[in-house]
Amino acid sequence: MCRESRWRSGDDNDDSALMTSPLDPGQARYAAMRWNTPLSVDHAEFILDLLEARGGSGVARPGLRLGELLMRAVEAGGPGTTGVGVDRDEQVLARARPLATTRGLDGRVHFVCAESATWDQRADRMLCVGASHAWAGVEQALQALARLVRPGGRVLFGEGCWERSPTAAAAASLGEPVAHAWTEPLG
Ligand SMILES: C[S@@+](CC[C@H](N)C(=O)[O-])C[C@H]1O[C@@H](n2cnc3c(N)ncnc32)[C@H](O)[C@@H]1O
Repeated sequence: MCRESRWRSGDDNDDSALMTSPLDPGQARYAAMRWNTPLSVDHAEFILDLLEARGGSGVARPGLRLGELLMRAVEAGGPGTTGVGVDRDEQVLARARPLATTRGLDGRVHFVCAESATWDQRADRMLCVGASHAWAGVEQALQALARLVRPGGRVLFGEGCWERSPTAAAAASLGEPVAHAWTEPLG
């Protein structure tokens, strides 16, 4: 959860207190993952190409988790393209910041702790993959993204579906509307 209820400007990167050892279970859980969604590298390239971030574009990614898709979008856009990753989990942001530094994206990609529902900074490109539960449902997520994207911009929206009925724990973590919506394709 965020240490402050209101989001702060992205240049406040002092998260030294949150930096954890590589053996920290919370961090180790995602260490081997490129992103937290069933997506091949080729298909990621394809959809990021459709997003068409270009020099001067600002890309926003609420529901960040691993940050890789956001960083690839910014890299694909070339110099001048910037990004902001938004998540309510400080540990998510503490993991993403050093990755951005390693890739030379300091100053171009910022990370902000906020609830998606209160995030109101507009962007030229909105990226939301597997995170509709951050707005409690697909409809609410699309409405929010439509409000946040600047005129002439683009939204890349990826949604999940269940291969089998969700466990009670999975349904509880995503919230009932999303758990129900993702179950519908099962019939
Ligand atoms: C399932 S992950 C998305 C992962 C993404 N598909 C990827 O490939 O990296 C969802 C993320 O949304 C964040 N999240 C969930 N609810 C949120 C909310 N209400 N506001 C902000 N972030 C939220 C979680 O902390 C988590 O990092």
